[in-house]
Amino acid sequence: MKINLTNGLCLVCILSIFNMACSFNNSNKNAMAAPKITTQNFGTFEGKPITEYTLTNGSGMQVSIINYGGILTKIITQAKDGSWGDVITGYDSLEGYVQKGNPYFGALIGRYANRLAKGKYTIDGVTYKAAINNHGQSLHGGLKGFDKVVWNASILPGDSSIQLDYLSIDGEEGYPGNLKVQVVYTLTANNALQIAYTASTDKTTVLNLTNHVYFNLTAGKSPNIYDHLVQINANKYTPVDTSLIPTGELLDVKGTPMDFTTPKKVGQEIDQVAGGYDHNWVLNKAEGLQEIAHVYEPTSGRYLTVATTEPGIQFYSGNFLDGSLTGTKKGIIYNKHYALTLETQHFPDSPNQTGFPSTILKPGETYHQTTVYTFSTK
Ligand code: GLA
Repeated sequence: MKINLTNGLCLVCILSIFNMACSFNNSNKNAMAAPKITTQNFGTFEGKPITEYTLTNGSGMQVSIINYGGILTKIITQAKDGSWGDVITGYDSLEGYVQKGNPYFGALIGRYANRLAKGKYTIDGVTYKAAINNHGQSLHGGLKGFDKVVWNASILPGDSSIQLDYLSIDGEEGYPGNLKVQVVYTLTANNALQIAYTASTDKTTVLNLTNHVYFNLTAGKSPNIYDHLVQINANKYTPVDTSLIPTGELLDVKGTPMDFTTPKKVGQEIDQVAGGYDHNWVLNKAEGLQEIAHVYEPTSGRYLTVATTEPGIQFYSGNFLDGSLTGTKKGIIYNKHYALTLETQHFPDSPNQTGFPSTILKPGETYHQTTVYTFSTK
């Protein structure tokens, strides 16, 4: 067969387009594997099986969750040198998580995140009393909050999300209404962990949900978070009394150790705050999901961005960690200031503070809260 020049060129063209398509497919495959979810038996609690779900995204980041307390047990991310490490506190097995005094590592918190003064609050003239569990106050939902119950877990289509469901019955821990709660954890292709909460009730109640994950972005290489640089978009915070109950004021952070409007090392002024940071910052934000805080750890290069729909954030510097927890991951000793939390929330004790945004949920309404922790390096 005689091939003229034009036809010959076309053949070359077709072959090279075919080659390009093949190599594009291959490089794509290497860069982005499909997300996957694996499961592992994690013991039993009150006769119910506990499972650990591990979500892996295309770049290899992993997030593990158990259906006891909806707890985040691992977040494995890459440092700037390419090494991988687990950036959250936790334990090797379920025994660790159920131990008395476990300070809510990785857990879902409800019905009311942080403190309700003396556990009391009033709805439509009726006074309710939430279970007291913290020096005369009600903390993080009471004696058996959402962190200590078994959630129903399911894997959602697409292998990037786990859905957790819990029905909190009328009167549980002193809260009215049967409350249906759903939490969806999603690990995205761009290394973001999204936590989406929804809830509905059949009686008017109060609700303030969050997650209590503790970060040390060195992945265990430093025993404290003093060199982590924190930035919070907040011009005000809610000061507290000696019982850590808000006084009701909104104070300016300017000129105080509470000023994180520009990145600042946690250790820089922590000595000037009794016990360390454990306060709610009033976020500079409108309604909707917005980026509101960052944490940078210079040795690993890890950079955490926090976005939320919530009006507040509890920045807690692990003040009550005292090295006494047992069964910790790799036997790590979690001493004071080992890790920090950025708990996105409505303000503590809002039901008793007329000046704070409302935490009331009525029948027919749907509660929504979304928080996204995104990991990168610099
Ligand atoms: C929250 C509170 C702290 C402490 C921890 C758990 O962050 O604000 O005071 O109770 O939870 O130890």
